[in-house]
Amino acid sequence: MNVLLIGSGGREHALAWALSASPLIGTLYCAPGNAGIADMARCVALDVADHAAVIAFCREHTIGLVVVGPEAPLVAGLVDDLAAAGIKAFGPTRAAAQLEGSKGFTKDLCREFSIPTGAYGRFHDKASAKAYLAAQPIPIVVKADGLAAGKGVVVAFTRAEAEAAVDACFEGAFGSAGAEIVIEEFLDGEEASVFALVDGKTVLLLGAAQDHKRVFDGDKGPNTGGMGAYSPAPVMTPAMMQRTLDEIIKPTVAGMAERGTPFKGVLFLGVMITTQGPKLYEYNVRFGDPECQTLMLRLKSDLLAALLATVDGVLDRFDLRWHEDVALCVVMAAKGYPGDTAKGSEIKGLDAAAKVPGVQIFHAGTKRDGTRILANGGRVLNVAARGKTVAEAQARAYEAIAEIDWPEGFCRRDIGWRAIAREQSQS
Ligand code: AMP
Ligand code: GLY
Repeated sequence: MNVLLIGSGGREHALAWALSASPLIGTLYCAPGNAGIADMARCVALDVADHAAVIAFCREHTIGLVVVGPEAPLVAGLVDDLAAAGIKAFGPTRAAAQLEGSKGFTKDLCREFSIPTGAYGRFHDKASAKAYLAAQPIPIVVKADGLAAGKGVVVAFTRAEAEAAVDACFEGAFGSAGAEIVIEEFLDGEEASVFALVDGKTVLLLGAAQDHKRVFDGDKGPNTGGMGAYSPAPVMTPAMMQRTLDEIIKPTVAGMAERGTPFKGVLFLGVMITTQGPKLYEYNVRFGDPECQTLMLRLKSDLLAALLATVDGVLDRFDLRWHEDVALCVVMAAKGYPGDTAKGSEIKGLDAAAKVPGVQIFHAGTKRDGTRILANGGRVLNVAARGKTVAEAQARAYEAIAEIDWPEGFCRRDIGWRAIAREQSQS
């Protein structure tokens, strides 16, 4: 079967790596892809926002499945348009993608189906938002309603910060994504990312991961798309996972089906483990990046078969096998990230780095120039490794990083620190 993968990041490189290992794969195409993905897929310059062009490409290349990596094409209804043209696509419809596309939508769904989450209000103007804020305890969380590339959330520790966040949203800091805001109760606890395949009715858990959102060691500095991740997440004990499944995931899947907008694809929950148990703080409707890289390293089964079972609605007859190992992924970013970064610096030493046992290198923002690999984005490389423990996986990832010669890049030196501290306290 020919497959078209949409996207260009480390997540998509990991998906391409897993898809290309499938016994079912014919030709794997990726739009637009990157220099790493080009080693295992044919990269094509398709305008993904032009749905008619994507449909024409699929017909011309007899694509049996389209796999959508990022959220924007899902929220834009790419899967709906492909389905209407008779082309199978993995990912939710536009209506179901509202779980990520509108934070207010998700909060209302939680209220309707009694899903544990923080108290909240939805607002369209400064005055009513500030009146609500005045009556809330601090800290408090201010969120742009729409897609803001991970930048639309402010956890405010003072009232002034919260008010400034409200002002910024309504003054256009996040464009139309901030025309409506959600003000949400601050949830105290440890965060985990939980992933599940959902075929409209059946849930197949993929497991949990934890990522490091802050740019600097010690989880300091501004928020990023994610500087590293590991899976499984020790905080997600089997009992906590069961509660998350029963109290959050199943009611969401049932609620979406009951509303006539069933969810199909990968559901990614941001869960806070509080003293009262798991509480949802956000949904995403795609794999996390870099969490996906750790999941793909641990997956033993055929990813393509799993994605097809999801699209075909037969997950009730499907199961997955996983490596026992832990996987950990360190993001290498261009200096300046998450702010402006320079493109075009050369990265050397990748072949030597890839030889470290247990290591897999995924490209996140690279391009090829002859035989040279050049940085072409903020997050540039993902160095992922498997190990028996988080400490072993981390040591292997940093051993590989030591082989990479890229003075214009940087990475955090402490990915997995919380899990490693747990391992040390238990041994
Ligand atoms: P998001 O962009 O939705 O992933 O949110 C960014 C970060 O904000 C999350 O990873 C959490 O650390 C934090 N966050 C979001 N909502 C809450 C909340 N209700 N309470 C505490 N922290 C939150
Ligand atoms: N790493 C978080 C995300 O993909 O949104």
